[in-house]
Amino acid sequence: MRQTRIDEFLELEYHNKELEKRIKEEVAKNREKDKLMFQQSKLASLGEMLGNISHQWRQPLMEINSLFLPIEAKITLGVPLEDNEILQTIDKLNHITKYMSNTIDDFKNFFATDKEKIKFKLLEQINSTVNIISGGLKTHNVKLDIIIKKNPEIIAYKNDYSQVLINIINNAKDVLVQRKIGNPYIKISIYEENKNIITTVEDNAGGVKVNPIEKIFDPFFTYEKMGGSGIGLFMSKLIIEKNMNGKLSVENTSNGAFFKIIIPKI
Ligand SMILES: Nc1ncnc2c1ncn2[C@@H]1O[C@H](COP(=O)(O)OP(=O)(O)O)[C@@H](O)[C@H]1O
Ligand SMILES: [Mg+2]
Repeated sequence: MRQTRIDEFLELEYHNKELEKRIKEEVAKNREKDKLMFQQSKLASLGEMLGNISHQWRQPLMEINSLFLPIEAKITLGVPLEDNEILQTIDKLNHITKYMSNTIDDFKNFFATDKEKIKFKLLEQINSTVNIISGGLKTHNVKLDIIIKKNPEIIAYKNDYSQVLINIINNAKDVLVQRKIGNPYIKISIYEENKNIITTVEDNAGGVKVNPIEKIFDPFFTYEKMGGSGIGLFMSKLIIEKNMNGKLSVENTSNGAFFKIIIPKI
């Protein structure tokens, strides 16, 4: 009798161990899946970003193209050239290439994966993020307002925060363009509340037409969009809520969608 109880106990113990092992394996598998999704989302935004860079570069490239036209003309016509004129042109050229190189730096920083949390000023990060996407916004005449009540420093994954911001802003732009909204705008506000840093992004595109609205955070959920991947908001939520212990939510206002990112200060 006693022996059977011990046997039963040992068997139970064995099953528990097995179960524990299985759970560990499943958790590891899920982590791998998350990682894969994360890579996919970076690739998806890489495509979007390349589009933005090409917008950003078109203007300076045209400027470079026309920069030497007067000099070329003078040489062709045999008109004497002033040193000063050449120096000024070179100066302009340096200025433009510096701008182009900055764009690339922003772009590169954005795609570097964050290894650890660092302290950074929110406004600086927002500015370099906006710098990356402003070209695409300008092309579509989308007005971007940034309202900062405070310029808080936070300790967080810097590039991940930018990626979330870019996802949300690009989505808003997509919908504004697709629905051909007149006077399109995107408004970003930043403020502090109860030891949290709040970033809100709102637009006047008419809102999310999905019910229940939270579905837009589901993986691969895309709606009303040509070539949408449906990864952007899913990843954004993962980044904010799993990596940063924050919260990402959405609601509709009378004008459009209203996204709210809450990040604890520490
Ligand atoms: N600002 C917005 N206004 C209206 N709908 C939106 C907005 N942002 C996102 N959505 C909806 O949420 C869906 C999911 O977005 P996302 O996860 O980024 O995937 P994707 O952009 O690839 O479709 C979009 O397809 C769109 O229907
Ligand atoms: Mg998207």
